[in-house]
Amino acid sequence: MNINQHYLELQDSYLFSLVTKKVNAYKEKNPSKEVIRLGIGDVTLPLVPAVVEAMQKAVAEQGEKSTFKGYGEEQGYEFLRQTICQYYSEKKVSLSDTEVFISDGAKSDIGNILDIFDIDNTVLIPDPVYPVYVDTNVMAGRKIIYANGTVENNFSPLPDENIKADIIYLCSPNNPTGAVYNKEQLESWVSYALKHDAVILFDSAYETFIQDESLPTSIYQIEGAEKCAIEFCSLSKTAGFTGTRCGYTIVPHALIRNNTSLNKLWLRRQTTKFNGVPYIVQKGAEAVFSNDGLQQIKENIAYYMENAKLISGTLKELNIWHVGGENSPYIWLKCPNDMTSWDYFDYLLENAQVVGTPGSGFGSNGEGFFRLSAFGERKNVIEAMERLRKLK
Ligand code: MLT
Repeated sequence: MNINQHYLELQDSYLFSLVTKKVNAYKEKNPSKEVIRLGIGDVTLPLVPAVVEAMQKAVAEQGEKSTFKGYGEEQGYEFLRQTICQYYSEKKVSLSDTEVFISDGAKSDIGNILDIFDIDNTVLIPDPVYPVYVDTNVMAGRKIIYANGTVENNFSPLPDENIKADIIYLCSPNNPTGAVYNKEQLESWVSYALKHDAVILFDSAYETFIQDESLPTSIYQIEGAEKCAIEFCSLSKTAGFTGTRCGYTIVPHALIRNNTSLNKLWLRRQTTKFNGVPYIVQKGAEAVFSNDGLQQIKENIAYYMENAKLISGTLKELNIWHVGGENSPYIWLKCPNDMTSWDYFDYLLENAQVVGTPGSGFGSNGEGFFRLSAFGERKNVIEAMERLRKLK
């Protein structure tokens, strides 16, 4: 028996588990200190009333013989898939409900989608970016190349015609930098993918945080993207589902590689390895897209964006270089005094009891940078900023 040796090539812990471990160790040593967490992007506002009501109704249905449901469709209930098509039609994207797959969140599908691709594909991953893309490909033993995100290119790397990539990850708004690709930039990625027969894995988990209406919120707003892209989205940040778990993945019928429909392969994979998201959760997800639901989540997003403003306002006051927070819930800053990302993490934890996420955890280009999340409770964000001011 042999284990998958590629797991040994991974860092010991997943980034956010390592942060939690360090914070817990600090708290154990300093039980009287009040730590404020602006690290992992976990929401703090509860589910909105429209969602709660829909889920309560669904629980009652599951308790009645006449409305009880056992296994659902692995691809997700039609009512939710159609609701998502409607949501996309408002973005001027036309989808069929058989192109929508309901998931338990973007993270799982972003990892699982690799099942349908050959191991010999070369993967292109922006750096810095959400660590799941790298880790899942390291686990599989796939060749990874990087697209450098730097201050100079506003952390929005563009395709290089001299590089041959088969699978391309894009995350817009970017986690961790908050950079958002504009239409022309996405057009250049789509054109590269079509020319090189590559597939773009487009992570749009933070699309609802985009405030600038000129920016694309879906890759399918770009002509030709349905022939080269799979899109992953999540209700985690959009509607406070981090603990409730629901997302969706779009695999267009027009996406064909090796004369094979990727939609068909993904359906085959899901029907074999996944039993779907609970009915109760899917009813809650459906309510997110109702008129009341959309209005209520808009208010929650505005709350987080106000937090982002408070954070970037403070950093500006302290002359700390930063970006993000305008179309995303993350603020990406340069560690003061040339500290490394982990040194700044320790410094903030020790001296201000404020937790952020070290930029180097998102890739080597993230070294010397640091991410603060705007998902905290307002009073904690205000207090954390007060503590930062006192550090000066
Ligand atoms: C983050 O903080 O980057 C996210 O919460 C991680 C995730 O969505 O899995």
